[in-house]
Amino acid sequence: MTLIVTGGAGFIGSNFIRCMRSAHAGIRIVCVDKLTYAGNLSTLQGLLDAPDFRFVKADICDREAMSALIAEERPDAVVNFAAETHVDRSIEDPAVFLRTNVLGVQTLMDCCREHGVPRFHQVSTDEVYGDLPLDRPDLLFTEETPIRTSSPYAASKAAADLLVLAYCRTYGFPATISRCSNNYGPCQFPEKMIPLIIINALADKPLPVYGTGENIRDWLYVDDHCCAIDLILQRGRPGEVYNIGGHNERRNIDVVRLICHGVGKPESLIRHVADRKGHDLRYAIDPAKIHRELGWLPQTPFEEGMRRTIDWYQHNRSWWEEIVSGEYRHYYARMYGEG
Ligand code: NAD
Ligand code: DAU
Repeated sequence: MTLIVTGGAGFIGSNFIRCMRSAHAGIRIVCVDKLTYAGNLSTLQGLLDAPDFRFVKADICDREAMSALIAEERPDAVVNFAAETHVDRSIEDPAVFLRTNVLGVQTLMDCCREHGVPRFHQVSTDEVYGDLPLDRPDLLFTEETPIRTSSPYAASKAAADLLVLAYCRTYGFPATISRCSNNYGPCQFPEKMIPLIIINALADKPLPVYGTGENIRDWLYVDDHCCAIDLILQRGRPGEVYNIGGHNERRNIDVVRLICHGVGKPESLIRHVADRKGHDLRYAIDPAKIHRELGWLPQTPFEEGMRRTIDWYQHNRSWWEEIVSGEYRHYYARMYGEG
């Protein structure tokens, strides 16, 4: 079996490649990544020389490159993780989000159709559903929840989902979509809350919490997300959307406190800073469909996943130190007003 994995030098894509290689002996994986600020070849360390692995530096919006690669590799499936993914950056500058997250998906699907690829999987997000109120814990996102986006990032992902479903209906295109809640784990770019708070805490720097810190996210360890996508590829029904989440809602402030405790640093490092514009209040996924149809259940309790994640950032300093010394410093200064 050959898989093309786009965005495989990023957080979830790289973890997915490692999960698939350990779950399926003999699988060949071709990783396509443009290596934007968020993509890092050191994330793929140990894989680059493997005989059943190929890395191709390319943009999913480059039709000629995508078509030639698909013609050459004849993959059994294309799994699309490639995207601009940070909500705050989408608020600063939406244009590249529309280019990669919408036109990139269209380009990939056109090339898959051209060469008759048997399966396309679009990695989407729970953010397409907007948010839920804080005072209605009974409400969850199901696959039938209407699309109602808040940020330019979420709108771009929702547009892609609609396009995928339109290709399924109009052309009989064999695609599936997954909408997962917030992931955490090794190799997450330190602009996202959990790794940012971990590395700031390790350096005794202030820990920025947006607004009151009451906002709720539904956290899932990255390997559990990867296993769910593997199952969807094997047994998911084309044309269907699958929500992925583990009923693990946490207030941001509680996650930050847990990190302080895990790293052994005082909560006095916490700073409440200006809130994100349009900040979604609460995400909560109902994963009943993927459990019922595919038997998926998450395996990693939050406290254990957080221990593993903190441990990874403590033992892989060179990975993130390289990142935080580059473009990231300018971004951090713009966002948080410090160098
Ligand atoms: P990430 O930002 O860590 O990685 C994205 C990768 O895509 C990077 O390696 C980047 O270089 C690559 N990329 C960006 N534009 C590209 C282009 N035009 N062509 C080729 N490669 C390109 O993101 P992530 O957190 O790993 O997210 C992966 C996918 O999962 C995204 O589609 C995201 O919307 C979705 N998702 C993420 C989460 C989460 O919590 N992180 C949750 C649900 C869904
Ligand atoms: O729900 C899935 C989504 O999760 C993915 O689709 C996105 O790609 C991914 O980035 C993530 O989006 P969030 O906006 O939820 O993640 P982020 O880590 O940026 O923020 C998590 C919460 O923490 C959010 O409520 C904002 C808050 N936050 C974030 C940062 C970076 C802070 O309080 N301080 C911070 O410095």
